[in-house]
Amino acid sequence: MFTARHDLCDRSLFRAGPPYEVFRELREEEPVAFLPEPDGPGFWGVFRYDDVVEVSRHPQQFASAPAVFIQDPPDASVTQELLINQDPPRHTKLRKLVNRGFTPRQISALEPHLRDIVVGLLDRASEMGSFDLVHDLAVEVPLQVIAELVGVPHEDRHKVFAWTERMMSNDDDDQDAMHADAQVAIAEMFGYADQLIESRIGGDGSDLLSVLLRADVDGDALSQFEVDVFFMLLMNAGSETTRNLITGGTLALFEHPDQRALLAERPDLLPGAIEEMLRWVTPVMHFRRTAQEDLEIAGQPIAAGDKVVMWYTSANRDEAQFPEADTFDVTRTPNEHVAFGAGGPHFCLGASLARLETRILFEEMLARMPTLAQAGDPVRLKSNFINGIKSLPVRV
Ligand code: HEM
Repeated sequence: MFTARHDLCDRSLFRAGPPYEVFRELREEEPVAFLPEPDGPGFWGVFRYDDVVEVSRHPQQFASAPAVFIQDPPDASVTQELLINQDPPRHTKLRKLVNRGFTPRQISALEPHLRDIVVGLLDRASEMGSFDLVHDLAVEVPLQVIAELVGVPHEDRHKVFAWTERMMSNDDDDQDAMHADAQVAIAEMFGYADQLIESRIGGDGSDLLSVLLRADVDGDALSQFEVDVFFMLLMNAGSETTRNLITGGTLALFEHPDQRALLAERPDLLPGAIEEMLRWVTPVMHFRRTAQEDLEIAGQPIAAGDKVVMWYTSANRDEAQFPEADTFDVTRTPNEHVAFGAGGPHFCLGASLARLETRILFEEMLARMPTLAQAGDPVRLKSNFINGIKSLPVRV
């Protein structure tokens, strides 16, 4: 029986942004609540910071298989291969294959090139005078970087991005049509990845696709299908997330002119400001686990096999962890937000990359466009998974 009064799968609840008041009520009154899902048994929502951390850090009790999305996927053949849906020991081995490309040292080596990309985009945007922050800037920075890291030719990046949008957007009221379209997008992306793979086989390239093709897991190479799935995860995770941090972070500065003025005066506050943007925006709002045994969360009995969903959006506004949690404060310390996950083996692989992309973008944007102003209302993504903005008109 459902215990909560709210239906967090009702995406209209997220039309104007995450329903922070609903999350507050849940934290206070039903911190572990059983909620409905369409065409499924329902799930336990976990809303308090400490409980989200507890679930995330106990992968033996809370597994990532069969899937970390609330609803079980219609086609498990793809999702079960995704790194993010796997558990040790296979997860550990697969993650090692790509880890080396994402260490803080590897990532910081990208800084000069990344700055060139950002400056080029800002110059172009300045010439336009008025532009769309999402399309002209926030999408382009992470997309160009992940495309290069993975080995997607520059001229193909928008084609690949269009597929990721169709898979991730969750923005259509006709859910059946949306799922069907996502399946078509996956098939098209795999067809494209197969062509790229063909051109890389036997080569010694340093892009991640070439590295995956040479990988060895217990004496076996990855199958072409496994490489396709890895490709999809990296392209989706690398481009659909950081863009919403950039857009949501810029909007937070527009809405809090005092904080923006402080940052303009003290650029040394920027790294801390980015952590606050991560907490404030929380671009990925939840991930799910599945209980492996009968257990309790904060005294609430949970049965083996039940779905357990960690609401990062709620944890990041939990007053018990963050004093004045509904205040955007670029000087906040400490700031142990859970925007990249709440710890454990799946902690975001791209966290260093996302931080670097965002820091460089804001460094250059605040310096080069000190009078940047909002020129229209943001158009929000109607999703309970990605806290996204589809369009934000601005002028220099
Ligand atoms: C602001 C930007 C980003 C946010 C908010 C974000 C958020 C997250 C979250 C919440 C998780 C799950 C953590 C967990 O279950 O404990 C995750 C995992 C992951 N992220 Fe990110 N991410 C971002 C950027 C990126 C980028 C740029 C990449 C680049 C490749 C990336 C790649 C991944 C991958 C591959 C995983 C799965 C890791 C695993 O299963 O071991 N992410 N991310």
